[in-house]
Amino acid sequence: MVRNVYGLDLGSSEIKIYDKRQDKIWSEKTVLALSNRTDILAFGNDAFEMYEKTPGNIEVVFPMKEGVISKFDNMQNLLSLLLRKDKNFSRGSAYVVAVPTDVTEVEKKAFFDLVIHSNAKAKEVNIVERSIADAIGLNIDVENTNGVMIANFGGETTEISVLAGGGMVLNKLVKIGGYHYDQAIVNLVRRSQDFLIGMRTAEVLRKEFSVFSDDTLSGKVVSGRDLITGVPMQKNIGINVVRASIKDPLNECVRAMFSLLDRTPPEVRKAIYENGLYITGGIANMKGLEHYIERSINIKTKVAAKPSVTAIRGLNKIVMSKELKKMAYSMLNESYRWMR
Ligand SMILES: Nc1ncnc2c1ncn2[C@@H]1O[C@H](COP(=O)(O)OP(=O)(O)OP(=O)(O)O)[C@@H](O)[C@H]1O
Ligand SMILES: [Mg+2]
Repeated sequence: MVRNVYGLDLGSSEIKIYDKRQDKIWSEKTVLALSNRTDILAFGNDAFEMYEKTPGNIEVVFPMKEGVISKFDNMQNLLSLLLRKDKNFSRGSAYVVAVPTDVTEVEKKAFFDLVIHSNAKAKEVNIVERSIADAIGLNIDVENTNGVMIANFGGETTEISVLAGGGMVLNKLVKIGGYHYDQAIVNLVRRSQDFLIGMRTAEVLRKEFSVFSDDTLSGKVVSGRDLITGVPMQKNIGINVVRASIKDPLNECVRAMFSLLDRTPPEVRKAIYENGLYITGGIANMKGLEHYIERSINIKTKVAAKPSVTAIRGLNKIVMSKELKKMAYSMLNESYRWMR
């Protein structure tokens, strides 16, 4: 008997957890704060609070990088600390983990190993391709759809997939996400105004401005450092700077969507034009993104109701439904193939 079932969507910026017994979804930042390189001072949202604010002896680490686990031990510690935040956490539980498709076999296996070898003493671990989880979270009938495109705009990646006839036809993991948009904002503000802002400030600007609207006048006063005098000060940053920064990285994602469409078999492509494109992931919270994408690629685009948690909602549904359980599979199983 398994004690409980957990769903995990391990994102580069946020870990989403579904807890079956409590029937609850929650999320925390994928961050650890370490002192002396090993002692854990804080984890999750608390550790993120220390980012860009800490003295030199405290290191804030992000154990996921561009959609894959980059610091295995840190990630394992973080996951077990997060799970144990719940006083009723039980060892010997089953896990269903969403994984990216377009990564190496070793990178994919790391998701499985992370959980199966954790001190959470997992009883059983199954994995689900993240775009399948997204599709189920979107209430798409994966078994019977004749063609649909999903783009998950995340913190460090944009995962684009074409699904048809019960499986995945094409998938591309573009290593561009919110982090890269924010990096572009920091760079442009520095180059154009000799003013250095932090990544967190850039994220605030990106979240607050409605960059896909016609607004050209909005501005926000933010703190930073003048690079000529070296003095900390405040400056007004206009919406156009943020808009211009986002343009290139976003268009690279659009180009990747075009190229996936190009490679899609004609009947499936025709179905996608009829059924539309769905966008999920935290970045899909940006107001008007769906209209921008729709205008760019000329396919009816719909945004998920709660895009940050669409994939974990999908895992939730997989855990609860006998019918959908077959979407999850074990990597220990001999019939396992990397793309099904
Ligand atoms: N309301 C919002 N407006 C704009 N951006 C948002 C909003 N909410 C979240 N985001 C952005 O969404 C991103 C996180 O999305 P998500 O949780 O899907 O990423 P992730 O799953 O951790 O990353 P990845 O899938 O790339 O590994 C962050 O860059 C964050 O700034
Ligand atoms: Mg994600």
